[in-house]
Amino acid sequence: MFSEMPQGLAGSLDAVTEKPGPGDLPRGLPNQCYTDHTYHAYEQETVFAESWACIGFAKDVPETGDVFPVELAGRPLFMVRGRKGEVRVFHNACRHRGFTLVDEPKRCKGVVTCPYHAWAYGLDGSLRSTPMIGGPDKHEIPDFDKKQFGLREVRSFVWLDFVFVNLSGNAAPFEEENAILLERWKEFENAPLFHGGDNSTVHFDLACNWKLAIENFCEAYHLPWVHPGLNSYSPIEMHYNIVEWAKFSGQGTRNYSPRLTEDGARFPRLSGLSEKWDTGAEYIAVHPNLMIGVHKDHIMGVLVTPDGTARTLERMELYYFSEEARGEGYSELRKAAQKGWQEVFAEDRFAVEGMQKGRHSPGFDGGVFTPVQDPPTHSFHAWVAGRLKRSQTDARIAAE
Ligand code: FES
Ligand SMILES: [Fe+2]
Repeated sequence: MFSEMPQGLAGSLDAVTEKPGPGDLPRGLPNQCYTDHTYHAYEQETVFAESWACIGFAKDVPETGDVFPVELAGRPLFMVRGRKGEVRVFHNACRHRGFTLVDEPKRCKGVVTCPYHAWAYGLDGSLRSTPMIGGPDKHEIPDFDKKQFGLREVRSFVWLDFVFVNLSGNAAPFEEENAILLERWKEFENAPLFHGGDNSTVHFDLACNWKLAIENFCEAYHLPWVHPGLNSYSPIEMHYNIVEWAKFSGQGTRNYSPRLTEDGARFPRLSGLSEKWDTGAEYIAVHPNLMIGVHKDHIMGVLVTPDGTARTLERMELYYFSEEARGEGYSELRKAAQKGWQEVFAEDRFAVEGMQKGRHSPGFDGGVFTPVQDPPTHSFHAWVAGRLKRSQTDARIAAE
């Protein structure tokens, strides 16, 4: 599906995608990318629908038959746990009259039944039954081939516990698109992940564009002023930038040594990790909309969902590396970890919401990326701008 790039935008994108040279002071995306509804619609169709975007967590569908509705770029979808334990994603619309099949998370007994006329679909999306389709007591009719009316599946991929989809079907395979990142965090690839339960989830509803949440996550520059507490034990000078130009970016710390409770208790460490992770942790934004932190004792994932130009929903989930860590013995520690993350993200609220307000000012023109502190943010802008431009190229080729 192609839509047109809003007028006047193309000219600002080249400056954003160019990798800066020494002495350059590059500009960021212009205000319209944060405030304009036409732009937002275009961004949904390009940046979100054509990429591998995150829609949820595999733990949301723990058992065979579990379904969980989500939405991406305006499309209703649902995740389902299939018979072989796999997670699949389907368009959430009955093939008969388009009724929304799944409106809340639940466990289905073998089939997903449409509430309207009770057509039933297998967990693999195939249409299984069409009650009374030919009148009372007549559940089949000639010339109606059920095989043609299975649910439309969406291309999906689960990495760690994060569920990604590519709506357009045109993106390179997930592992190819994210090869460098997967290699960087290979040590966590097969980690056993145990979600900590109710006290390991945090939600935020922010009055800002989704990109500002990502941008703020990528940088460590604001630490001393926005997170004085965090900065006291993990100071800015212990942080480093992570920039894989126009692919992914974030920050790392060399000083990860959490003291969550007075008694100094610790979560079990993931076995087999190299020394780097003894005191190191890394925080990377997987574009467009997933923020992940990896540590020796837990993984933190935040799903970032835009709701229009100026509202963003964040859902954070915390995972530990052993069954034990989600047991009663660790509940105080889990609560402390949840509180710690909750506080840090709450401190960030004023930053992202303040930047959003500034995006309405004619006195702001995309700002400036300074060479030492801002490369991770610039890299994210370059990725976004690259997606916007690439989509135009695709549209041109398709039209020729
Ligand atoms: S709309 Fe689903 S069975 Fe008719
Ligand atoms: Fe922050």
